Amino acid sequence: MTLMQFVKPAGALAAFGLIGFAAMSIISPRVQADSNSDVQIGFAIAPVQLNLKGKNPALVGKGSYIVNAKADCNGCHNSLDLGGEWAAGHNPYFGQPKMVNAKGYLGGGSPFGPFPGQGIGGVGPLIIYSRNLTPDASGLPEGGHTFQEFLTIFRTGHDFDLAHPACPTLGAAGCIASPPFNASLLQVMPWPVYSNMSDDDLQAVYEYLSAIPCISHKGTVGLPSNLYQTCP
Ligand code: HEC
Repeated sequence: MTLMQFVKPAGALAAFGLIGFAAMSIISPRVQADSNSDVQIGFAIAPVQLNLKGKNPALVGKGSYIVNAKADCNGCHNSLDLGGEWAAGHNPYFGQPKMVNAKGYLGGGSPFGPFPGQGIGGVGPLIIYSRNLTPDASGLPEGGHTFQEFLTIFRTGHDFDLAHPACPTLGAAGCIASPPFNASLLQVMPWPVYSNMSDDDLQAVYEYLSAIPCISHKGTVGLPSNLYQTCP
């Protein structure tokens, strides 16, 4: 999932999962009433140890179900520098028994591109890196964003970090050719589809992301500066 040509299929898959989810809840009230099982599956498939202190467990479980069974967030937000999406010897695409690589789970840093623009420090074409979604020392997920900001990101695609402003101004990841791109919007990230999610679902995703382990990327060189953070 690191090359440009994989971006579209990944987005399409995520879209398919979400549409399937919405359709199921409309057609089958039984499935909706039985939402407890989503929570249980969510806890069963979470690939990392969860910190439930001060969290709403039902929301965390539901968020895990959305993140790990529906929306494939880690397909793009895994950390290549920490081993990528699958644990060594556990890549299902090699026919191996699947196991997610917990060390790089949702830590971001997977590259997409090249995009028209300039890369880090103005060198080479723009490579867009998935962001670090793990909580930082503040305990808030994805770089300390509040739930209100998280909603804005998912509803509008707004990039609070402005990681790739319009060229020639360089941000953490470089700069993007604008036009045609709108430099204040997240690229690659399927927010145009995720914006259809309910507030309740997004709250569950946010709660789940605040319960996963922090990844700092300490010791890695060359990632955009906004991917590094201090862990508790
Ligand atoms: C198809 C790949 C892909 C998938 C799937 C994906 N993301 Fe992203 N996401 C990205 C990329 C790439 C960026 C950074 C985009 C940029 O810099 O323009 C990003 C950015 C974000 C941001 C903005 C972070 C910030 O600090 O402002 C959040 C939040 C986010 N993603 C959460 C999620 C969640 C939660 C999911 C699953 C529900 C998800 N993403 C699924 C690729 C993806």
